[in-house]
Amino acid sequence: MQSKNTNGLHVAIIMDGNGRWATRRGLPRIAGHRAGVAALRRVVERAPDVGIRCLTVYAFSSDNWRRPPAEVESIFWLLRAFLRLETERLKQRGVRLQVIGRRDRLATSVLREIEKAECATATGHRLHLRVAIDYSSRDAIAQAAYLHETRSSPDEIAQSLAQTLTAGSGDVDLLIRTGGEKRLSDFLLWESAYAELHFTDRMWPDFDEADLEAALNEFSHRERRFGAVPFALSIVQGKAPCAGMDVSQLDLLSETNYSGDIHANT
Ligand code: FPP
Repeated sequence: MQSKNTNGLHVAIIMDGNGRWATRRGLPRIAGHRAGVAALRRVVERAPDVGIRCLTVYAFSSDNWRRPPAEVESIFWLLRAFLRLETERLKQRGVRLQVIGRRDRLATSVLREIEKAECATATGHRLHLRVAIDYSSRDAIAQAAYLHETRSSPDEIAQSLAQTLTAGSGDVDLLIRTGGEKRLSDFLLWESAYAELHFTDRMWPDFDEADLEAALNEFSHRERRFGAVPFALSIVQGKAPCAGMDVSQLDLLSETNYSGDIHANT
């Protein structure tokens, strides 16, 4: 499955639905998170073969600290186990693991596992796997802005922010959210400015390779304009869309021109 626009992609995933998946089966929520780790493993295995070069997954948001302590503890237990058990496999598969988010509130035992895994996989070049933990996009933007507060113009600030926030990962091309909700939940807000969004009712523990490929397939048929005119039009015609046109001759504001269909180009 390699069609247009699906190479070297940055895909981001909000892995939602673990709790509901478990509750519907009469299981404790932690069972859903455990099944969620298995789904993550499947997606990471498949990702490099379907054109993904960077995969960012939302494992624990800064707002998730508000969950019952036992659930928080179990998520971090799973994270430590994931790092301990998967690092060797990730390394063999050429996956570079990086954790994004705040580190100052993480337990030392978690930090140690993160640092070991990051160090062991640092040379991976097939897939850049970013796991967001204690992550808030607003917080990340505020931190980056604070670092660059001495810049003199909004443009310079925007450039520095872009560098800080997207260094090594680039903008998000496709953002997938499982679990039926349709919101961004403070995830990669800057980086997703022009991301295509894919929402699915599938609960994260059920998400598999076929779902990933279906999302990529749908993505490959989207027309990405980045606020400009359709690429195809200008490129196929071999000219810029307004080339040769004397704009001053156009009666843009006349009743007939102004009342036609207006299609947003963004
Ligand atoms: C959202 O489902 C999921 C989370 C808050 C945690 C995601 C965690 C994992 C997939 C496992 C741990 C991660 C790693 C990298 C080892 P939810 O609990 O909000 O589900 P619900 O909306 O059905 O309640």
